[in-house]
Amino acid sequence: MTQPLRIAIAGLGTVGVGVIRMVQTHGDRIAARAGRPIEIAAVSARSRSKDRGVDLSPFAWEDDPVALARRGDVDLVVEVMGGEDGPAKVLTETALSSGKHVVTANKAMMAHHGQALAELAEANEAALRYEAAVAGGIPIMKSLTEGLAGNGIERVMGVMNGTCNYILTEMEHTGADYEAVLADAQALGYAEADPSFDVGGIDAAHKLSLLAATAFGTRVDFAGVTIEGIERVSLADIQQAAELGYKVRLLGVAQMSSEGLEQRMQPVLVPSQSPIGLLEGVTNMVIVEGDFVGRTVFTGPGAGEGPTASAIMGDVIDIARGLRIPAFGQPADSLTAPNRAAHAGSASHYLRLTLTDAPGTLAKVAQMLADQGISIDRMRQNDHDERQVPVLIVTHDCARSNLDAALAEIANSPVSLAEPVALRIEQV
Ligand SMILES: NC(=O)c1ccc[n+]([C@@H]2O[C@H](COP(=O)([O-])OP(=O)(O)OC[C@H]3O[C@@H](n4cnc5c(N)ncnc54)[C@H](OP(=O)(O)O)[C@@H]3O)[C@@H](O)[C@H]2O)c1
Repeated sequence: MTQPLRIAIAGLGTVGVGVIRMVQTHGDRIAARAGRPIEIAAVSARSRSKDRGVDLSPFAWEDDPVALARRGDVDLVVEVMGGEDGPAKVLTETALSSGKHVVTANKAMMAHHGQALAELAEANEAALRYEAAVAGGIPIMKSLTEGLAGNGIERVMGVMNGTCNYILTEMEHTGADYEAVLADAQALGYAEADPSFDVGGIDAAHKLSLLAATAFGTRVDFAGVTIEGIERVSLADIQQAAELGYKVRLLGVAQMSSEGLEQRMQPVLVPSQSPIGLLEGVTNMVIVEGDFVGRTVFTGPGAGEGPTASAIMGDVIDIARGLRIPAFGQPADSLTAPNRAAHAGSASHYLRLTLTDAPGTLAKVAQMLADQGISIDRMRQNDHDERQVPVLIVTHDCARSNLDAALAEIANSPVSLAEPVALRIEQV
């Protein structure tokens, strides 16, 4: 009989328990597909006594997760504890240094230390895989590193934080404001008690940086991602955007141009009838545009026990089969340091201005935009009271720096009664 692949699981929370359940449910099927059995040899978590709803008695227990990496009966460590540094990183380094493979769901660790860990893996002829870290159950890393590997990738983008998409789509449907929907999302378990990593766009930016590195053959550059969260997206903008035929989404875009690598994670407007505009709730979507393949759209659950376990086991089975794909799809020493684009590419923008109700106001605003070379595609004036008029403008393509200069002038002029709002309109 072929030797089993012996795995250890560090972390027995949502993801770790999901992996155990999957191995227990589909052990025979997995063995047939992998060509050898996958056996769980040992596990670790903080509390040994916690009831996790699965029988842990067949597995050896380690109080210290790093000890899993030193065990002689372990070939592969599944790291599902989380945390950018700390035990997750020490465990990963220890395992790779001793030639053990690592499968992780830890986007924070990979976004910050991916290059060093990929180099360590290759130096020790070990595999390092992290499908579950990017868009949960969607096999996007596998698609980029295998199925799409022959393409020059032009753009990769995605909605990769279910919490944010849930909040934005709930605001849209219920007319409730951000704070109220966030509180509901927390009650339903869709948002953490401390939601800042999610709503601040950081979690999704981690994922974008991993996609960008793999798509463009560059070293992962999390610090190069421009990040803006959804905390300041107002119900008014969601409703006004809808009237203009757009939805607001937290979208990550990575694009390589002659200007360099552009990585942005920010709330943008997308056409309501586009695949991203139609994406509802916690579901994720990643779109890859390649020079030969054209556009491919991947959608599915971005989190949760089952989807994350599915992604982890896909990686484990590949390793059991003997497949050794470098962490970022090509040898770590061939990844180049990215040249960061100084500015985002130009785009049309949605503007919401609150202006005085006086003759000549719109002309003055149009002139301040024109002074920066910005022309107006559409303008709409909504209900107004005696003093102030909400005005919506969709600009033609313009550079954000010019728009910011125009908006600063508008904000400082007597015609403006509130801070202008500007959102990029992404052609998706
Ligand atoms: N949940 C998802 O849907 C999802 C999706 C994609 C990626 N991920 C990633 O997967 C990883 C795990 O997420 P999760 O949701 O499963 O987290 P979780 O439910 O909070 O579980 C974390 C587990 O790690 C253990 N742990 C934490 N610190 C430890 C330490 N110092 N020593 C030993 N064990 C420790 C905890 O032990 P105790 O149980 O004893 O406290 C717990 O079992 C994270 O990197 C996360 O970003 C999660």
